[in-house]
Amino acid sequence: MKRALLGMCILALAGTVVYAGSHSKTSYQDDVRPIMENQCFMCHGDNAPSLEEFDADKETYEARSQGPRMSTYAETVEFVKGEETGALMRRLDDGSNTADGNPGNMYDYLGRTDEEREKNLAVFKKWVGHWTLKRADDLTEKDKEKFKLAE
Ligand code: HEC
Repeated sequence: MKRALLGMCILALAGTVVYAGSHSKTSYQDDVRPIMENQCFMCHGDNAPSLEEFDADKETYEARSQGPRMSTYAETVEFVKGEETGALMRRLDDGSNTADGNPGNMYDYLGRTDEEREKNLAVFKKWVGHWTLKRADDLTEKDKEKFKLAE
């Protein structure tokens, strides 16, 4: 009887650990996109120009407060380790990792209060998995392996 009870406890514990493990995984769909819908899509959503269109006519789009589109997983990842490597991290950093100690110029949009911004920044950091501000030329293979970016 005692043994059975102990066994049950162990099973229950194991279940908790597995559950906590899968739950702590930060994904684009469950964690990052909901933040972006609220904080970023008014300027980077479905109506925003593609990165190509944006790059071809930055002035026009910037005058309209429109940034390049980041409304899908694939588009967003381009700003982490693709066409615009490190842009997401450089723009969202709170100043702890920037050369001049100033936050990136999209940091403000992460929330209305410092608390909200830091909370949302932590989600982006966890999702990226390797918060480097490096540009494409400086990014090593090792850096690339460290990105998490769960879809
Ligand atoms: C009020 C409009 C607005 C909001 C809200 C906004 N952005 Fe931006 N964003 C822009 C504009 C305009 C640019 C292009 C000008 C510039 O580079 O600063 C830009 C540029 C960027 C870039 C660099 C793009 C590149 O070409 O390398 C990133 C990354 C970015 N934003 C991420 C975000 C994220 C993430 C959020 C939400 C937390 C956000 N932005 C919220 C308007 C906005």
